[in-house]
Amino acid sequence: MGSKRRCFRVSLLIIFFFFRCCNTTTDTITQNRYISDASNGSVVSSNGNFKLGFFSPGKSENRYVGIWFNKVPLQTVVWVANRDNPLKNRTGAFKITDDGNIAVFYSGNDRLPLWSTNVSMPAATSRNSTAKLLPSGNLVLTTENGSDHTETVEWQSFDYPTDSYWAGMKFGLDERTGLNRILTSWKSDDDPAKGEFTVRIDSRGVPQIFMYKGSAAYFRVGPWNGLTLSGVRKVSPQNTQGIDVAFANYSFVNNRDEVYVIFKEPNPSTFSRMVLKPLGTVERQIWYLDIQQWYQFYVAPQDRCDHYGWCGASTLCNNENTVACACLPGFEYSKEDLSCVEKRKAGTCGKGEGEGFIKLAHVKLPDARTCRLFSNMSLEECEMECLKSCNCTGYASADVVEGRGCFAWYGVLNDIKQYSQDEQDFYIRVDAIELAANMIRKKSKGFEGVKRTLVIIFVSVALGAILFIFCSYYLWRKHAKSKDLKEKQRYRDMLFLDSTTNFSNEDTCNEKSNEKSKNMELTFYDLDTIVAATDNFSIAKKLGQGGYGPVYKGKLPNGQEIAVKRLSSNSGQGITEFKNEVLLTAKLQHRNLVKLLGCCIDNEEKMLVYEYMPNKSLDYFIFDETRKSLLDWKRRHEIIVGIARGILYLHQDSRLRIIHRDLKTSNILLDDELNPKISDLGTARIFAGKQKEANTRTVVGTFGYMSPEYALDGQFSVKSDVFSFGVLLLEIISGKKNMGFFNDYPSSNLIQEVWKLWNEDRGSEIIDSSILRDSCPIHEVMRCVQVGLLCIQDKATDRPTMSSVVFMLSNEANLPPPIQPTFSIQRSHDQNNTDSTNTGNKSPSVNELTVTELRAR
Ligand SMILES: *[C@@H]1O[C@H](CO)[C@@H](O)[C@H](O)[C@H]1NC(C)=O
Ligand SMILES: *[C@@H]1O[C@H](CO)[C@@H](O)[C@H](O)[C@H]1NC(C)=O
Ligand SMILES: *[C@@H]1O[C@H](CO)[C@@H](O)[C@H](O)[C@H]1NC(C)=O
Ligand SMILES: *[C@@H]1O[C@H](CO)[C@@H](O)[C@H](O)[C@H]1NC(C)=O
Ligand SMILES: *[C@@H]1O[C@H](CO)[C@@H](O)[C@H](O)[C@H]1NC(C)=O
Ligand SMILES: *[C@@H]1O[C@H](CO)[C@@H](O)[C@H](O)[C@H]1NC(C)=O
Ligand SMILES: *[C@@H]1O[C@H](CO)[C@@H](O)[C@H](O)[C@H]1NC(C)=O
Ligand SMILES: *[C@@H]1O[C@H](CO)[C@@H](O)[C@H](O)[C@H]1NC(C)=O
Repeated sequence: MGSKRRCFRVSLLIIFFFFRCCNTTTDTITQNRYISDASNGSVVSSNGNFKLGFFSPGKSENRYVGIWFNKVPLQTVVWVANRDNPLKNRTGAFKITDDGNIAVFYSGNDRLPLWSTNVSMPAATSRNSTAKLLPSGNLVLTTENGSDHTETVEWQSFDYPTDSYWAGMKFGLDERTGLNRILTSWKSDDDPAKGEFTVRIDSRGVPQIFMYKGSAAYFRVGPWNGLTLSGVRKVSPQNTQGIDVAFANYSFVNNRDEVYVIFKEPNPSTFSRMVLKPLGTVERQIWYLDIQQWYQFYVAPQDRCDHYGWCGASTLCNNENTVACACLPGFEYSKEDLSCVEKRKAGTCGKGEGEGFIKLAHVKLPDARTCRLFSNMSLEECEMECLKSCNCTGYASADVVEGRGCFAWYGVLNDIKQYSQDEQDFYIRVDAIELAANMIRKKSKGFEGVKRTLVIIFVSVALGAILFIFCSYYLWRKHAKSKDLKEKQRYRDMLFLDSTTNFSNEDTCNEKSNEKSKNMELTFYDLDTIVAATDNFSIAKKLGQGGYGPVYKGKLPNGQEIAVKRLSSNSGQGITEFKNEVLLTAKLQHRNLVKLLGCCIDNEEKMLVYEYMPNKSLDYFIFDETRKSLLDWKRRHEIIVGIARGILYLHQDSRLRIIHRDLKTSNILLDDELNPKISDLGTARIFAGKQKEANTRTVVGTFGYMSPEYALDGQFSVKSDVFSFGVLLLEIISGKKNMGFFNDYPSSNLIQEVWKLWNEDRGSEIIDSSILRDSCPIHEVMRCVQVGLLCIQDKATDRPTMSSVVFMLSNEANLPPPIQPTFSIQRSHDQNNTDSTNTGNKSPSVNELTVTELRAR
């Protein structure tokens, strides 16, 4: 009996504690109820999505009050109260003070808050203030008027974001109150104090979003063009879905009172945020409850051209070109000023007749702080409007969807980035001479080098020539047919003068018993065959965009699948490179090299036909958050060894000594069994006999993979390929891209990052988390990392040869310790020029290599 009663009492007690416990997970803090760190106090929003409490970030011991996603097991803090003033021990409290504000302080030390909402309220109402964590994750401080019970919002955390904004939160400004909600990065992952990067909306001119490093503009997107913020782009051309997911539920609001962006949660089973990371990247992260994982859909800035004013004023930056910077039409590079200067003399505006506009396609619009919006003008009206004012330098559509309204720029044009597709057109104002030159340039390609005076002569001569051409036309027509054939023959002779290659005009091969000549058999395809195979180069068949032109998938009448590389006529690849690639690839046979089936030449058209690789290229896998998990460690190791064997073959096992010069992830294709195949020999060089090193004036290759001696002195050897291989290897292991060596761009300098971690014995942090999960043999991976570090040493002579690399990768022999890679290629001036209206006289030498200086650290 007694025990039964005791049992009953215990149950009562349990029930009592149960209710007490659940009472503690309320969503409000009142005058009488506060939370303290010592008792693990917290408040949770009524829907259970957000939690407010005390936390220690990363490896820090300090305590902060913050808000995080309650249903994401990996604590992701999205808001911090006392970010600049941490609690040093666990005696903190978060409560409403006598003046009605909510504050953080050491328990019993109410008079000296570390942080406070700090609003002044009428004394009478302040007694009844309460703080509530709303389902949206907004912490709201309200006061109640005792006489009529109306509530007033005194303060809300949504108005004071830290480094993140999330669904339902306005990021931007309220012109009525002067409130500007800006993001400020954390100092580091362990310290939420205000870092050096901020992101804010700037409403001068036409609203745009700016990232600042300190007080210097660092990165910019905008203005809003009816569809997107100009310059917001997908991560890679293949990752077409990413940007759609990342920005599907965004809206941009711009009215008289407010300018802000806001987004909705993509679906009920996700939590997402936009965050400004400590090293200055904006990232869109989405947590999927069902997969229990963060995915990253957008990261910016993405490359050197995203850096505000990278090339200086009046330039066009195109990251896909080796030399990214070029002067805008109507400007030329001045060696004295080290910048682009206007060709025409000052003050001639409006005097000369026939001014007009040149279209720049696929660009991120220039900095719009000097821009005006004409919301009701068509593009034609805008052109007239722009011509009216001497200061107007260009215009663009303000709404690419509706086609109504335009932006007009006044003054110097800054920060224009050009892409190879998408984005929008910008019309730049030029004088009559430039306009004529542009017209001629368009008609006859490769005319750039001609002097301006020559252009004028050409214009007048052209008129006379028309008559002549007219007369000649009839005669020419008569001979056209036979000339066409002759031309074809000429190309062939030029191409294969020194090769013993046999061509067959049809798909049928010349049967020969001799094995050697059979290997080198190439097919010469008709243009008609290729057009039919690729559905007339339809967009649907496009596989990607290489440096020299688009690549299409095709199917020959016999069912064989092919990849057709169509060399764009204005690509850098002239007949020389074409000849190179055909000749080289035809002679090479190795399981880790892509196989060339044939080529097609028809007047302007030059095309290469390869075997089709169903699995695209390596970058398609390793830099994609979802696809990278398909490549486990075993697979990656096989790929690394395969690439090494392929390069070794090029360097010494083939009859020729070949240096690839442009090894990078997008040039490594994967066959149906994910075997790597090296492609794109267009830039390769053959070495005669024993020659081991050479110099070149035109540095070709890709930033991030170029060895220092090649990037700076144009000196290349087998060791520059070894360097590129080293970078490739580290990218494969880390799943991260090495963007280049910009010392102000630390987040993307993979080499320095790997070296740092390796040196601090934190090697395992280098490894891509998606291969870490399946418990890969760490020592084997570390061995590979060490080989990679050996390959990227500064001095070419220190780097191993490819044969040693292959040996080291497949044997357990002892490896020498790598020497620290110390070089850092940086801009020729400091990044700290404070503002946009950068006159450009400090910018890197435009039209010359952007890599200008070698600096030892
Ligand atoms: C608070 O949480 C910590 C860690 O979870 C635990 O060790 C401690 O006992 C808790 N303290 C109280 C008062 O609940
Ligand atoms: C916690 O730190 C504060 C400030 O340094 C100090 O005043 C207080 O005595 C400390 N409390 C304990 C329990 O250590
Ligand atoms: C509160 O505001 C006053 C005046 O605006 C300022 O002097 C004070 O430093 C602020 N206090 C805190 C804790 O932010
Ligand atoms: C409270 O409400 C009453 C009645 O609406 C109003 O007269 C009074 O000014 C209010 N007090 C405050 C502090 O807003
Ligand atoms: C505070 O709230 C209580 C209950 O809502 C109310 O009775 C009281 O008048 C309020 N006090 C003040 C100063 O507004
Ligand atoms: C978000 O965007 C996706 C894709 O366009 C759409 O299916 C979904 O309905 C949107 N969600 C909301 C809440 O608007
Ligand atoms: C803008 O254009 C619309 C449609 O063409 C027209 O109805 C309206 O009056 C115009 N507004 C102004 C301010 O010109
Ligand atoms: C053009 O520039 C001049 C001098 O810089 C300035 O005085 C004038 O107001 C500008 N005009 C317009 C329309 O911006």
